Amino acid sequence: MTQATDAAAAARALFTALSDHPPAGLWSAPGRVNLIGEHTDYNDGFVLPFAIDHRTYAVVGIRDDDRIRVASTLAEAPVDVPLDVLDRLFPSVGSPVVAQWAAYPLGVAWALRQAATAGGRTTPATGVDIAIASDVPVGAGLSSSAAIEGAVASALNDVWGRGLDPVALARIGRRAENEAVGAPTGIMDQMASMLGRPDAAILIDCRSLHTEVVDLGLDAADLVLVVIDTRVSHAHATGGYRDRREACERGAAAMGVAALRDLTVDDLARAERAMDATTFRRVRHIVTEDQRVLDTVRTLREQGPTAIGPLLDASHASMRDDFEISTPELDMAVEAARAAGAIGARMTGGGFGGAAIALTPRDRVDEVELAVASTFDEAGFAPAHVFTVVPSDGARRDE
Ligand code: GLA
Repeated sequence: MTQATDAAAAARALFTALSDHPPAGLWSAPGRVNLIGEHTDYNDGFVLPFAIDHRTYAVVGIRDDDRIRVASTLAEAPVDVPLDVLDRLFPSVGSPVVAQWAAYPLGVAWALRQAATAGGRTTPATGVDIAIASDVPVGAGLSSSAAIEGAVASALNDVWGRGLDPVALARIGRRAENEAVGAPTGIMDQMASMLGRPDAAILIDCRSLHTEVVDLGLDAADLVLVVIDTRVSHAHATGGYRDRREACERGAAAMGVAALRDLTVDDLARAERAMDATTFRRVRHIVTEDQRVLDTVRTLREQGPTAIGPLLDASHASMRDDFEISTPELDMAVEAARAAGAIGARMTGGGFGGAAIALTPRDRVDEVELAVASTFDEAGFAPAHVFTVVPSDGARRDE
């Protein structure tokens, strides 16, 4: 039995314990790994993430009253609120009024109700029971939150008959994350979770939300994506993530553009004169990273995955030196992986902890794992969790 099947079974069992109503179905959405394009999403730029083979499952049943009840295998007790109370609970940035985990599914339900109202639809939302289980590692920078949002948004979209498309559901997920949870994130994670495809990454233009499927061809090249979860925790609702976002806004304002997406590497000399040195380095990361995403797509299409290593390495250096969101553990993980045979490696996700990825020839995966274990041990770091991920399907109805 695979891990994924275990999470689906756990969601079914939890639903049976939660509800007297028959289940209407089972929906799931994956976590994601970002291949390249970090912190570019909220700058209206480009990202190239893929959905992974770790998913969150939601079993949903329709109730005959107007309550929404949500249970998670990670929580002690279900949360139970009348549907119309959602509109008083949210937005709630900075003052969470429900348990943090419940703000994700309840925030999705709230945002979906709001979107439906804005669209002029009148179908009333019925009460629902929702049981959630997941095998997406939490806190590793693999978007366990977007996986919850994607699974719940897909389920409620179906049972409430909203008929929204995957991009609209990604927007619903981001709204929940921004306004119900209070994390000022971009839309990459929700888009990747909704739109992922097997053996492909998704190029997302975060301004237009136009997407292109970009084949990775990993199997044919005998390459594997190794994730090194440093288990150093990160939280995006506060601290460094928000600070970096503000620096980007300052940089765009100093250059007189709507977003850093509007600059190219040719503008950097002028940018250096227009702002303080720290803000400039933040800007340089975003502008060069946007270019690296486009270069990666071109390289994948023209030469295949074996040729993108230097772009991954350059992305990591830019995050370490210019954007300053790496950690000693992440730097060590990428260096150890490269020394053991990875053809490229970088931290992935928001930074300040979480995971690195290493694009690795299949026959070097064991060496990478051993190298990470021994260097972490020598440095006195807590052991990293090393595993492989397979680019997989986005959100879907399973039953
Ligand atoms: C987190 C956010 C995303 C994105 C990345 C950094 O994962 O949720 O929106 O900004 O960080 O690329």
